[in-house]
Amino acid sequence: MTHAAATGFGSIRGRLDEAVRAPHVEAIAQQVKGVLQDALRNGLSLPGEFQVSLADTYARRLLHRDPDGRYTVVVMTWGPGQRTALHDHAGIWCVECVVDGNMEVAQYDLMSETDGAFRFEQRNHVVAGRGSAGCLIPPFEYHTLGNAAETPSVTLHVYGGEMDHCHVFEPAADGSYRRVRKDLAYHP
Ligand SMILES: [Fe+2]
Repeated sequence: MTHAAATGFGSIRGRLDEAVRAPHVEAIAQQVKGVLQDALRNGLSLPGEFQVSLADTYARRLLHRDPDGRYTVVVMTWGPGQRTALHDHAGIWCVECVVDGNMEVAQYDLMSETDGAFRFEQRNHVVAGRGSAGCLIPPFEYHTLGNAAETPSVTLHVYGGEMDHCHVFEPAADGSYRRVRKDLAYHP
């Protein structure tokens, strides 16, 4: 199936609006993933100001907020070596797609939690290039993301709402992790 050549985000907004009407979260995520992958194949380009990396952290910029609150679209730009801690998505589904560069993505399963000590096992670990996309559907939402390129990489994220916080998991000496709430904001 082919679609009209995509250029800016406006060219896929209607399809995202349609995708989030699917009856359950798995169907929504699969449809959103298809929309993003089609858009990348068709040459989706993002505004230049969304692709500027920052010196001390990866950049997180809001591209679109659905007026009905069903989803948000966020662009992240990663300088060389920039990466996340192990984190969750506060129970919000997400579809993530690489727009430029190469991203290292690792998924983790939560095995146990005892008295605030969380234990994880790493499941898979991939280096993903332009057009690669993955779905995170809670409770399978624990992962790390990092720029695997020596130049900035850019990713596009569609969240099932507004992710204004998440939890990061800080490693302890015994191999477990401690959960810490992290408030999230957008860079200008
Ligand atoms: Fe994430």
